[in-house]
Amino acid sequence: MRLVITKDYDEMTEWSARYIKKRIIDFKPGPNHYFVLGLPTGSTPLGIYKKLVKFVKTKELSFKYVITFNMDEYVGLPRDHPESYHSYMWNNFFKHIDIEPNNVHILDGNATDLVHECNEFERAIKESGGIELFVGGIGPDGHIAFNEPGSSLVSRTRVKTLAQDTIIANARFFDNDITKVPTSALTVGVGTVMDAREVLILISGTSKAYALHMAIEEGVNHMWTVSAFQNHSRFLCVCDEDATMELKVKTVRYFKGLMSVHSQLINGNDHSSLLHTEN
Ligand code: GLP
Repeated sequence: MRLVITKDYDEMTEWSARYIKKRIIDFKPGPNHYFVLGLPTGSTPLGIYKKLVKFVKTKELSFKYVITFNMDEYVGLPRDHPESYHSYMWNNFFKHIDIEPNNVHILDGNATDLVHECNEFERAIKESGGIELFVGGIGPDGHIAFNEPGSSLVSRTRVKTLAQDTIIANARFFDNDITKVPTSALTVGVGTVMDAREVLILISGTSKAYALHMAIEEGVNHMWTVSAFQNHSRFLCVCDEDATMELKVKTVRYFKGLMSVHSQLINGNDHSSLLHTEN
């Protein structure tokens, strides 16, 4: 695992957006060589999307040969509802970049056969060649996508009932009214994310501090599904200072001491040898 500790939210999103840009550019995507990117929603990645849009506008980056798969979507929320993950992704990102709409994959939470929808999603990921980089956030209870506490760590894309904590956390997007929050969702499984060649997790703020501690300082545990990535050979976690509040001082010092190595991941020439190093 690599843990990159940045000063604040803005620095965290700057670092992560530059990392994603570099990964895509160094991959040299083309018509027969698409970069496959897994993407999250939530408030945490918003700053990254803004920065990636800026890179596209300044022609530093193109999504022409990028295929995306989103992590999750609510069940039963109309696609054009302002809080659907379809609306979120198109409004905050896709409509501002040069991606081919056919290359965007978001689960359909209104499909008549939800199980079929989930199986097809897994099939499409496989058909694309597998995900090169899966970017994700976490809930305060350490859930990844909608893999709530107790989810199988080898789970695949499926329907999940949301935990009460998640419904309460997400009520802020639904007029703070928990009765308006959908109670189930389609989500990639922990196993789906584990299959990605690299996983990048963003963690910001004190409300996620305990989850970060459980993710990296305690053992792999299905009650904190993000901890599964301890078993991933290329797990990169980018956080801000606030999120480190529950970490041991020696953990923080150790990873801060590696900052000059980590900064090579986003700077300079093609550091693909470093990028492809297992950690
Ligand atoms: C939801 C999403 C997760 C996301 C989490 C945290 O539960 N399903 O994928 O990581 O929210 O969101 P935020 O970044 O707003 O804290």
